[in-house]
Amino acid sequence: SVLEMEVEQINKGNYEHYMQKEIHEQPESLTTTMRGRLIRGGSCKAKTVLLGGLKDHLKTIRRSRRIVFVGCGTSYNAALAARPILEELSGVPVTMEIASDLVDRQGPIYREDTAVFVSQSGETADTLLAFEYALENGALCVGITNTVGSAIARHTHCGVHINAGAEIGVASTKAYTSQIVVMAMLALAIGGDAISSQARREAIIDGLFDLPNRVREVLKLDHEMKDLAKLLMAEQSLLVFGRGYNYATALEGALKVKEVALMHSEGMLAGEMKHGPLALVDENLPIIVIATRDTCFRLQTAVIQQLHARKGRLIVMCSKGDAASVSPGESCRVIEVPQVEDCLQPVVNIVPLQLLAYHLTVLKGYNVDQPRNLAKSVTTQ
Ligand code: G6P
Repeated sequence: SVLEMEVEQINKGNYEHYMQKEIHEQPESLTTTMRGRLIRGGSCKAKTVLLGGLKDHLKTIRRSRRIVFVGCGTSYNAALAARPILEELSGVPVTMEIASDLVDRQGPIYREDTAVFVSQSGETADTLLAFEYALENGALCVGITNTVGSAIARHTHCGVHINAGAEIGVASTKAYTSQIVVMAMLALAIGGDAISSQARREAIIDGLFDLPNRVREVLKLDHEMKDLAKLLMAEQSLLVFGRGYNYATALEGALKVKEVALMHSEGMLAGEMKHGPLALVDENLPIIVIATRDTCFRLQTAVIQQLHARKGRLIVMCSKGDAASVSPGESCRVIEVPQVEDCLQPVVNIVPLQLLAYHLTVLKGYNVDQPRNLAKSVTTQ
């Protein structure tokens, strides 16, 4: 109806599509996610994290034998992005499960496990089935959702709301970045107050406070990403190579392109390049390599050299100021992003890829908010 159309226009504000609006509102959604949870007190007060929904269970989580992340699609990728920092700060082994695969295998889950269910909607059938399975097996079940009152939010033992605000676009964008931030805060909360990691924890908390501004900065790449989309729109395929903190960025960037631009795209672990994917490399296939500054930087520059030696068509994402040092030649395009604390870098790095997926889709004339064959929440198995 006309009324419905008008309401929709009001909801979208100055944006043409929900996905566009949700990408651009990430500085605000991230702020809301952190509100009241990060404490940077006065002179004598240490910097800490407060997650009300978890505080009675932190001891149990710290004592668990393993933390298992469970999710589907973008929610799984968000957990993957947070895995390294959770391992580092908690010292507890963290394993990853795609919800349907855990159920298919009836994989081992024990009473000593903490199972963390990540779901924007809190209603995904596969995730719910995996949750019921873990509950039956006696694990402590933690929910991380964006939907108050959802099944995961109501039935898990404890949890955290990501408070990103309603997400309408089928392809998840702002929920992804808020999920990563919540799981980074979870890592800080579980990590406790060991002296040995105090400086690291404080650097992460400072990084979190600063994150909305860095995301505002990276959003300025909008036009550059539109230009890149024009260059890539006729391509059949796109590869994205990442590793370490940004393995998840590669998977999630490729998932966005696949979901909305209906273009074949694969995210790959750069460490696996020579074990197969290298055979695909030629002068036509576009490849995005994520090489922002962290402990994997040297390895990624070697990957860039190897791809260049095989005449790969490269697009490199690097930290501001690194363009000259990462670019192997004139033909290579570079996306420069602001540098943040290494474990938070995935929040910044995904933004240009979200923009790229968005522009590819609009240029191709496809429905960006409701891609064919997909649903926002898949409530059947
Ligand atoms: C569907 C959506 C994806 C989403 C996935 C998991 O496939 O299209 O965007 O990532 O479900 O959804 P959830 O609500 O559990 O995060």
